[in-house]
Amino acid sequence: APERVVGSKSFTAVAINCAAKAGEWIQSKIGSVKQLDTKYSMHDLVTEVDKGSERMIRNLIGTHFPHHSFLGEEGVEPGPEAAAKALQDVSDAEYLWIVDPVDGTTNYVHGFPFYSVSIALAHRGQVIVGVVYDPSRDELFIAERGKGAYVHGRKVEASKEGTLGTSLLATGFPAEHLTALPANLREIGAIAPKVRNLRSSGSAALHLAYVASGRLSGFWEHNLSAWDIAAGSLLVEEAGGRMSDLAGEPYHLGVRDIVATNSLVHDELVSELKKASAAK
Ligand code: IPD
Ligand code: CA
Ligand code: CA
Ligand code: CA
Repeated sequence: APERVVGSKSFTAVAINCAAKAGEWIQSKIGSVKQLDTKYSMHDLVTEVDKGSERMIRNLIGTHFPHHSFLGEEGVEPGPEAAAKALQDVSDAEYLWIVDPVDGTTNYVHGFPFYSVSIALAHRGQVIVGVVYDPSRDELFIAERGKGAYVHGRKVEASKEGTLGTSLLATGFPAEHLTALPANLREIGAIAPKVRNLRSSGSAALHLAYVASGRLSGFWEHNLSAWDIAAGSLLVEEAGGRMSDLAGEPYHLGVRDIVATNSLVHDELVSELKKASAAK
């Protein structure tokens, strides 16, 4: 079993502390971003707040667990190839922290209050702690492997919807790789008539936290990176939901196209997505 405590600080306590501190700081900076740059494309934004949040989290983790490995979005060159390589480089780490310092930067920049801080700890490739913090609503989603998923101490569960017809789903428009958009639009065209309705709110990590807390029955998106998904994946699984790739194969850290559901609508959603991609 993985060691859970070093000194008096549990992994989860450090993850929560980091998410809360970074979240409070990014919230204090909303509306006063000074430096807005683009990364991979005109759709892919970064600010000094993304970088500062990552630095804060990295330093805090480093003081508690100096021998752990760290993978943060802003420490990696832009673009999907660099993201995949960065994950490869740390793939044999015993303990690996996977951090998205601001998930939903576009929302953050526009003052659309749906963005989050996402922090996961993986032990030999398996996520054991996942924390997603929404500073706009002060909602802290926490999961520990084998111990369930919680929002501020209250246990949460995935929804009980048994069919897509009564489900609210979400998807995302991949910012870093808009060539995948036609596939995404085809899927939306195929899924929309089958579900109660669809949302696309712009933070993959929060969408996953919403699947875990029963607010959405499912979510899918292409071309994500480990830092968008890792923490949320454990929230979903610990809330009784299911995580897979688009083919329905179990989620692991290298999966970039994901399907997350309450588990009850999983097969139906995967099969509709397969039909949509076969129909191209
Ligand atoms: C983005 C968000 C967004 C998703 C993009 C991601 P970022 O992350 O998760 O919801 O659609 O694909 O890149 O860049 O804001 O951390
Ligand atoms: Ca980004
Ligand atoms: Ca992200
Ligand atoms: Ca980010």
